[in-house]
Parts: sequence; structure tokens; C-alpha cells
Amino acid sequence: MEKETSSCKPIEESALKSFRSHSPLKEVRYIIAVGSGKGGVGKTTLSVLLSLALKEEGFLVGLYDLDFYGPNSSLLLSSKKEEPIRDPEGYKPLNLEGIKVMSLSFMISEREPVFMRGLLAAKLLQELTQRVIWGPLDFLILDLPPGTGDIFLSMIDLFSPDGFILVTTSHKLSLADSLRTVSILKEKKVPILGVIKNMSNLFGKEEAFRKFLEDIKAPLLFELPFLEEFSEKETLPEIFSKSEKRELLQGLAKEVLKRIFRIH
Ligand SMILES: Nc1ncnc2c1ncn2[C@@H]1O[C@H](COP(=O)(O)OP(=O)(O)O)[C@@H](O)[C@H]1O
Ligand SMILES: [Mg+2]
Repeated sequence: MEKETSSCKPIEESALKSFRSHSPLKEVRYIIAVGSGKGGVGKTTLSVLLSLALKEEGFLVGLYDLDFYGPNSSLLLSSKKEEPIRDPEGYKPLNLEGIKVMSLSFMISEREPVFMRGLLAAKLLQELTQRVIWGPLDFLILDLPPGTGDIFLSMIDLFSPDGFILVTTSHKLSLADSLRTVSILKEKKVPILGVIKNMSNLFGKEEAFRKFLEDIKAPLLFELPFLEEFSEKETLPEIFSKSEKRELLQGLAKEVLKRIFRIH
């Protein structure tokens, strides 16, 4: 990828520090980022599942899809293609299954080429985020894009998440990328709530995975096996409305809640 050449000044550290308290995010109690480093390991799937599970526990939940290539989260929640209406006050999130959903891709489609330029991207991210009318929320779940480059760093700086959930498979490539992510999070002092092992029955490598958890000193929060149903037409709420799957999902919420309340 082209090296950043933008003449834009980076966002001042002090401005970033106060962003949460001086933006619509001030009405959000906890911001939880879901990321990995690697693409295709299930970040979006788990972000949506976690949002659904927390909503079922009675919390007010928002889901912010920060992958600017496409509104993946909303597609997993609803089979209809919906986009929020922009009003003069800003962007109102969609209400899908009782979850407030906003996607960067809703807001930037016509500006995408601009968005790709590092520092400019960070500034645009801040501007757009400033305009989302979340209202009061217990949890805002951030569905992060893959990668640990500039845009990842900007997102971590901008949102100062209260906790980070690392989604990975036990495949060695996913573990290697996750290690990079963890070292950035440690440097940035973002608490790692734990690890979700996705497609847990695939890839094997139990020993490597155990060592990975030991190295990063984070607990295993949840394991989700490979589920055939995900390739069906049903949306995630439809799949997880069935009783046996429902229990699985609530287990995820309970683990995350235990960890976040222990840390904060
Ligand atoms: N546990 C799982 N079982 C079956 N398919 C899965 C599972 N987790 C994710 N997938 C599928 O893998 C693909 C990538 O998942 P996605 O959540 O979009 O990953 P990411 O956001 O990390 O790129 C999607 O087609 C999704 O349905
Ligand atoms: Mg994704």
C-alpha cells in the first residue's frame, strides 16, 4: 500500500484524550472494541453476537461498524438493505433488532478514496464519529477493521476503549497477527478483556493456543465452534433465537460482563 504522504497534521494528543467526554460518546458507559489484526477470523460475527447477547441481558447497546469497506454488521442483523437517514443534526443510527447500528461505510461511500489516506483518515474518522447521534448507551461495541497500521492506532486513540476483545482462530497466522495487536494494546494501555477462540473445532494447535494465552496473560473468554448455519440465508438473530444456540450466546455476554465489571 502507498505510504502516507498527507500534509494533514495529526490530531493533537490532548484533543484525543478529551474526545470521549466532549463528543456524543459522552453518553456511552462502556466502549468495547472487538478486533484481531487478521481479516476473516470472525470479528464482525462476534461483534454482532456480543451486541445481541448484551441487549438480551437488558442493556442499551450500540454497534459501530468501523470497517469502511462495507456495512457487514448490519447485513448480519437484517436481511433488508437499510441505510440511516442523515438529518441536519447528524447521523442517526439504524435500529436493528433493538441495537443502534452505525457503519462508517454509510457515511463515507462517496469520499472513500480520501478516507484511505492515513492522517486524513484519522481526521475524517473523528469528524464523522462526532456527528453520530448515539444517545445514552450502556455499551458501544466497536467492530474494528483488520490490520494494526495507522488506522487501527487512530481508532484506539480516538475511542480509548474500556476493554478490548481479541478474536482469533488457533491458526498460526491468526495467532501471529494477534500477538502484534496485543503488543500495541499493551503500549496504549488498553485493557484486554480476553480472547474469543473462533471456529474453535478447526485448525487444532491446542498447545500453541495455550501458550499464546499464557504469553499475552489474558483469559479465554469464549469458544465458538464452526457453525454450518452461518452460511445459510438466516440472519444471526434468527439463528440464535433457537433455544440451544441462545444459551451459547448468553454465555458470551456473561463472561464479557464479568470481566468488564471486574476491571472498571
Ligand atoms: N464460528 C463460525 N462458524 C462458521 N462461519 C463463521 C464463523 N465465524 C465467522 N464465520 C464466517 O467467516 C466469514 C468471515 O467472518 P467475519 O465475521 O466477517 O470476519 P472478520 O470481521 O474478522 O473479517 C463470514 O462468512 C462468517 O460467516
Ligand atoms: Mg469484519
